[in-house]
Amino acid sequence: MSGTQAPALLAEGITSGYTEVPIIRNVSVSVAHGEIVTIIGPNGAGKSTLLKTIFGFLRARTGRVVVDGAEVTGMPPERLVRRGLAFVPQTDNVFGSLSVRENLTMGGFTLGAEMEQRIERVLGLFPLLAPRLRERADRLSGGQRQTLALARALMLDPTVLLLDEPSASLSPVMVESVFSHVAAINGQGTAVLMIEQNARHALAISHRGYVLANGENRLEGPAAELLQSDDVRRLYLGE
Ligand SMILES: Nc1ncnc2c1ncn2[C@@H]1O[C@H](COP(=O)(O)OP(=O)(O)OP(=O)(O)O)[C@@H](O)[C@H]1O
Ligand SMILES: [Mg+2]
Repeated sequence: MSGTQAPALLAEGITSGYTEVPIIRNVSVSVAHGEIVTIIGPNGAGKSTLLKTIFGFLRARTGRVVVDGAEVTGMPPERLVRRGLAFVPQTDNVFGSLSVRENLTMGGFTLGAEMEQRIERVLGLFPLLAPRLRERADRLSGGQRQTLALARALMLDPTVLLLDEPSASLSPVMVESVFSHVAAINGQGTAVLMIEQNARHALAISHRGYVLANGENRLEGPAAELLQSDDVRRLYLGE
């Protein structure tokens, strides 16, 4: 708990890319404590690039990243994890050759004696993993694997969870399950910043949203307003 007014996450004026040519320019997003915030936008808009930059996989050429009031700009992922950030990339988000339990243990790598207690706590949120602790992660279904990726990211009880398309390529039932897990995670106090193609569903469980297009902020507002916006409905909700 911060006890201050500082947002859980602030990324401000971020310019970043893979070569000299920036992919995102001067992009800003923030997530208040207790919020779910969704970023939508066309393929190639730079959404994943933004999350990778926030999580220190890419260097921000301009701008700053602040977690719970403390500047973390330029820190590598392993330090950001200790500062309360967790990231679930869209693919390759579990260690396939390791068991479910080993994946959870890796997610909680800084925990000592509290490891078992934390695993129990996380299994409480994701009961479908409990009977599979000794199974190899690459033997899980796509939905189970996505559930494990969420569980692993929660092992260190992050302040902010970054999710890149958590519902991608899942069956409708598992899409439901992932979104209800995200809502439950948020219900326990974790702020969430997620990218989603499934815009209507994601906005329905979100407090606020951003539209990113062509590497720039395009629109932002309360999720309910974005769902009502003619532009958003036409461009991103297929109406
Ligand atoms: N590793 C990379 N190296 C070079 N260019 C990249 C790399 N990853 C992405 N890009 C380029 O950056 C641009 C934005 O990609 P990004 O993955 O951020 O978009 P996105 O909004 O997440 O799209 P999608 O909805 O398809 O996931 C694209 O033009 C893409 O070709
Ligand atoms: Mg992407």
